[in-house]
This record gives sequence, structure tokens and C-alpha cells, in this order.
Amino acid sequence: MNMSELIKLLNKIYQAPLPEIKDLEQVLSLSAAQELDVLFGFADNVRKELCGDGILLRGIIEFSNFCDKECFYCGLNKNNRKLSRYRMSREELLRSVEFLSSCNIKTVVLQSGEDQGLDVSWLSEIIQQIKSRFSLAITLSVGERSLDDYKLWRKAGADRYLLKIETSDEALYASMHPQMSFAQRLNCLDMLRQLGYQVGSGNIIGLPGQNLKTIAQDILFFKQGNFDMIGIGPFIPHQDTPFAAEQKGQVLLTLKAVALTRIVTRNAHLPATTALGSLDQDYRAQGLKCGANVLMPNFTPEPYRKLYEIYPQKRCVSEPVGACNFCMDEMAKSINRSIDYSKGDSLKQGKADVNV
Ligand code: 5AD
Ligand code: FES
Repeated sequence: MNMSELIKLLNKIYQAPLPEIKDLEQVLSLSAAQELDVLFGFADNVRKELCGDGILLRGIIEFSNFCDKECFYCGLNKNNRKLSRYRMSREELLRSVEFLSSCNIKTVVLQSGEDQGLDVSWLSEIIQQIKSRFSLAITLSVGERSLDDYKLWRKAGADRYLLKIETSDEALYASMHPQMSFAQRLNCLDMLRQLGYQVGSGNIIGLPGQNLKTIAQDILFFKQGNFDMIGIGPFIPHQDTPFAAEQKGQVLLTLKAVALTRIVTRNAHLPATTALGSLDQDYRAQGLKCGANVLMPNFTPEPYRKLYEIYPQKRCVSEPVGACNFCMDEMAKSINRSIDYSKGDSLKQGKADVNV
């Protein structure tokens, strides 16, 4: 495609209330270096116009690796008997939150497997404590739960919730999520929205059976859902899962998906995901240069950090707690950006509408 045609196509996608799937597929299939420069540059401009130059930080604490689900891609799946399981105590968790807050971070993400053994009121009390002791936004990422649980945690003070769709293709979803239902996932997202959570979605790039069309559909799903945040990362096979022998996701396709998601969803917060930093090298800076505006430093303490092995070679498993923070600064500087130490609430309410 010549460059002026490509810019025209990207503008059409950017302006459309709901872009055409074939247009998205065409962009995802670009491969010439010059085309990619145009795509990434366009996405970077949209990010700069609508989100600014600051990189927002979300400190993540992975407080339990128990999981009752059997997702074929995930190392925490319940059939993985090799993994030793942990739940952090309330004191350990609050100590980690205190440290995170002392690093000037303003959002804590509390993540775990889908742990039905999680004590609902235990988490509720922790949320209340965090809210009363620290000036922090709280994001929960603990999977599919009942309306009552979501309500209780929201009342306790939780602000945001991550529940990625992983793939928006119902048949593909069913093929790798035994005992789970796509309809129930959508139902959970509805409940979360109705309760006033800022809601995050996202997908995995390179899942077995996925193709450019399903990725294009994912991006339309993100647009239609008007999500506040969207995390996109490459698939990394884990040795103790049914997908052990599958190919890993491609970096370039992941970056194209991030760029296109920026153009389509405009001002959603997009992290340069930890998975993007966990391949043969760290590609997070590239993610930040083609649409991403968020980093998620890891604050899970030892000895738990290495046990939260969703996929192998996960970033920062051997770094001391707090190292990530320093590293974030360096990464921002290396691409002429800066860290934005604010809470970084959703930009969606304002529905910014700026032409690029
Ligand atoms: N490779 C990449 N990402 C994965 N996730 C789970 N398993 C893998 C894997 N093997 C992602 C999912 C989940 C997030 C916590 O990690 O998107 O939502
Ligand atoms: Fe963790 Fe760099 S992000 S050490």
C-alpha cells in the first residue's frame, strides 16, 4: 500500500464510530518497514494528543496463585500440580501496599488466580484498610465472581476491575476454557460496569487457533465495550499446560494490535504488558512508542513472586522488590518520556475527541 493510502485508511478507522473489520485486518497484516513506521507513528500521535506524554504506573501485588480454572494457556491452572500454591497473609499484603505507596505509586492492582477459597470479607477489609491508610486507587483482578462479591468490594472502596476477555471469539474461547462460559464472562463485565467500576479488558496475541480476523474482532469488542483500560500481550507457552508445545505469539503482531487498539479506542489506558517484557528481550519500550501509556511494576514480595508463574521467564522474578520502580524511570527517559505519578483515572468520561 502506498503511504498516502495507508494514512487515509488509518484516518478512516480513527474517525469511524465502529470501524470495518476488513480494514482492521488489513492493518494487522502490514509488514513493510515503512508501513509499520506510519502505523506506529499514527498511534503514537493519538496517544500523545489524547493521553499526553506521562507514563502511568500501576503497582501489582499477586497475592494468591490458587486457581480453580483450567485455562489451557495459563501456568496457574488447577491441573498444574507442580506449582506450590500460596496465599499472602493480610499483614504481608498490607506491608507490600505500604512499600508500594512509599514509592509514590498511586494505584495498586490486587491480582490472584480465580481462587474460590478467597475469603470475600477478608479482601473487603483489606480494601477498607488500604483506602483509610493510603491515598491509592485500587484495582482488583481476581476473576469471575458473584454480583454480591463485586458489590461488597466496590462498597469497601475498590475503584477498578480487570477481567480480560482473552479472546472475543466465542468458539475459540470455549476451546481453551473448559468449564467456563463466554456468556458468563460478559455477564460479569456488565455487573462490574453497573456497579461503577472502571473496567479493563484485553487479549492474548498468538493463541492457538487465533487469526488476524479474530484479533480484529477483539479490537472491535474493545471499542464496543468502551473499556477504560486494555491490556494486550503475546502468548508465552508454559511447560505445564495443555499449550506447552504451541508457538509463542509474535512481538510484531502484538505491537500492531497495540497500535491499532490505540487508534480505535482512542483514550483507553493501554499498558505495555509484562508479557511484552518477558520475551527474548524487553519490548515494553516499543509498546510505549506505538500507543501504550501505562507500566505495571511488580510489587509481589519474595518468596511468592517466582510462584506466580502464569508463563515462564516472566519479567523481574529475580529483581529485588522496588527495582522495577527505578527501571521504569530509566525506560521512560530512554524514550524521552516521563513517569506520571498521578492516580491515572479513566479518561473515558470526558470522551475526548481530537482529530489527529
Ligand atoms: N502467555 C501470555 N499471557 C498469559 N496470560 C495468562 N497466561 C498467559 C500466557 N501463557 C495473561 C492473561 C491474564 C493475565 C493475568 O495474564 O491475559 O489475564
Ligand atoms: Fe522490574 Fe525493570 S521492570 S526490574
